[in-house]
Amino acid sequence: MEPVVPRELLRAEHIAKRFGQVTALRDVNLRLDRGEVLGLLGDNGAGKSTLIKIFTGYLQPTSGQLSLEGVPTSLRSVSHARSLGIEAVYQDLALINELNVYRNMFLQREAVRGGRLGILDDKAMRRAAIEHLERMGVRIPSVDVEVSRLSGGQRQAIAVARSVYQKAKILLLDEPTAAMGAKESALILDVIQQLKAEGQMGIVIIAHNYAQIFDVCDRINLVEGGAITFDKPTRETSVQELTDLVVREYRNARRSGKGG
Ligand SMILES: Nc1ncnc2c1ncn2[C@@H]1O[C@H](COP(=O)(O)OP(=O)(O)OP(=O)(O)O)[C@@H](O)[C@H]1O
Ligand SMILES: [Mg+2]
Repeated sequence: MEPVVPRELLRAEHIAKRFGQVTALRDVNLRLDRGEVLGLLGDNGAGKSTLIKIFTGYLQPTSGQLSLEGVPTSLRSVSHARSLGIEAVYQDLALINELNVYRNMFLQREAVRGGRLGILDDKAMRRAAIEHLERMGVRIPSVDVEVSRLSGGQRQAIAVARSVYQKAKILLLDEPTAAMGAKESALILDVIQQLKAEGQMGIVIIAHNYAQIFDVCDRINLVEGGAITFDKPTRETSVQELTDLVVREYRNARRSGKGG
């Protein structure tokens, strides 16, 4: 019999996070399925990054429960989360500028348990990096160039490719296209589109420019007042509806004297 692969990758139930007097998250309920791209929207300070940091094991929730593939799990640290297949790519990503592309691809490989790579020699690493980047449609001048000489979009694409190579099940992208030009953003969105087509990973993407990520998302969640207040499949909403929602939220906050 084929082993049953659970559809649900990640579930958050009643997640709250307080920093002293500040309540960043009040009561978050969220679900991420295999093969799904979930867009996380919300105002500045809504708590999106805090939620992502809880999913990466960097922060621990004040209360609430996370489950991975249906199993209640406490993520003790970033390396613990990584060992369970959770990877994140931030704006200021974890590539080493002074190393070439293929060495970056294999960074910390010894820390990855159960990955497909053992200890590889330089030649094999280089060849594997070329193959993998090609398969993912990431186009760069050469895997021999120092990462510092690549564009922001190329660096992001390599960070995403590396997460995939390390067999991430869940990929968390906190504003991957912020401060990027149209061409660079397109490169990232193409990589995400391809991962979606492969159907193995679940991806959460945060972006302020939601018109840009709209097409790549299967579902949209809005974070507002420390909770998810809107959850719809992308095909049942529109950029216009989301814009109206965010503007209305802003006006309401002003009227009640909470926001500026
Ligand atoms: N380490 C911290 N200590 C204290 N307060 C924090 C900390 N991290 C976040 N906060 C607060 O929690 C709230 C949510 O912040 P968070 O960074 O999650 O927002 P965000 O939705 O990612 O915003 P943006 O869209 O601007 O990136 C904010 O009020 C922020 O000031
Ligand atoms: Mg943020």
